Amino acid sequence: MRAFVVRGGFGFDNLAFEERPDPVPGRDEVLVRVRAASLNFRDLLVARGEYNPKLPLPRVLGSDAAGEVVAVGENVGAWRVGDRVVGCFFQEWIGGDLTELAARSALGADRDGVLAELVVFSKYGLVPVPEHLSYEEAATLPCAAVTAWNALRAPGAGADMTVLIQGTGGVSVFALQLAKAMRRTVLVTTRSARKAERATALGADAVCVTADTPAWEKWAWEQTGGRGVDLVVEVGGAGTMEKSLRAVRYGGHIGLIGVLSGPGAFNPIGAVMKRVTIHGQFVGSRADFLTLNAALEQRQLRPVIDRVFRFTEARAAFEYLAAGGHVGKVVVAL
Ligand SMILES: NC(=O)c1ccc[n+]([C@@H]2O[C@H](COP(=O)([O-])OP(=O)(O)OC[C@H]3O[C@@H](n4cnc5c(N)ncnc54)[C@H](OP(=O)(O)O)[C@@H]3O)[C@@H](O)[C@H]2O)c1
Repeated sequence: MRAFVVRGGFGFDNLAFEERPDPVPGRDEVLVRVRAASLNFRDLLVARGEYNPKLPLPRVLGSDAAGEVVAVGENVGAWRVGDRVVGCFFQEWIGGDLTELAARSALGADRDGVLAELVVFSKYGLVPVPEHLSYEEAATLPCAAVTAWNALRAPGAGADMTVLIQGTGGVSVFALQLAKAMRRTVLVTTRSARKAERATALGADAVCVTADTPAWEKWAWEQTGGRGVDLVVEVGGAGTMEKSLRAVRYGGHIGLIGVLSGPGAFNPIGAVMKRVTIHGQFVGSRADFLTLNAALEQRQLRPVIDRVFRFTEARAAFEYLAAGGHVGKVVVAL
């Protein structure tokens, strides 16, 4: 079977296909024929050696895939050949708090990933594909959608909550869709006017094009009548945190997810003076994934797919994601 790997060194020039023996499931494992995978910003970091420069190579890339069960180990009762399944980002995080062991079970970094024709999953590392979704749609869920779901749920329920979402990438578009489904008021920032139109069409209540209005924290403050937003879905990281702390209300929340602006320092005084709660998010557990899927099914929500590449075009899919022109998710169909 073919797998898409980074080998011989990091960087996109070292992305390649590799022929590997077909994997055989162990007693507690499930063999899945992958039908679609989706890419995340994290995959770019892994491929470039920026996620973990000590990662042993070659490494199969990708954390998110959906497909059909083709074989099960003798200890597997819950899954049958032919089941439509989607993998969990963490193979060993079933529920409850994240542990070190569970944190090391993420696909596509510490473990080989899912950009391969056949992949073995733990029997606890799969959930059923929501009935209304295709393989391509389901493959978008494990990382981006579960992360967005947990970021929105962390502050608790609030009838009049205003959420500020940065950008229009994978996590952010799920956050927009899910927040609207929760009847939140949603403010979106984006670098591009074209993407602002898409965000509005997807239900954003107001959109700030940061190329025209760099002081988006003031914009957000004004949008809330000088109160500040209840929650910021923070994907920028160190480079945007200080603005987020200005945009958030006293006693508000920041869901700290991303590192798009790169490593760096920020002044935390705003969090102290405004008594802001910062929730670090690391995707979520299998239990979180199941509650997300129940919500998607109940509301018949469908992921936003920007573009689907063929497996043979996997490298082009990485380059496309890295160029940053997408809205929502980039998918590779197998
Ligand atoms: N902690 C976790 O569990 C977790 C899970 C998933 C992702 N992440 C992180 O979250 C971030 C987003 O991931 P993704 O897969 O959704 O990425 P993505 O699909 O590549 O989307 C990134 C989008 O964010 C916007 N953006 C780019 N640079 C930015 C910056 N400096 N500040 C603010 N916004 C910026 C852009 O949207 P516009 O062009 O519209 O501005 C861009 O398209 C990444 O840092 C990723 O590592 C973390």
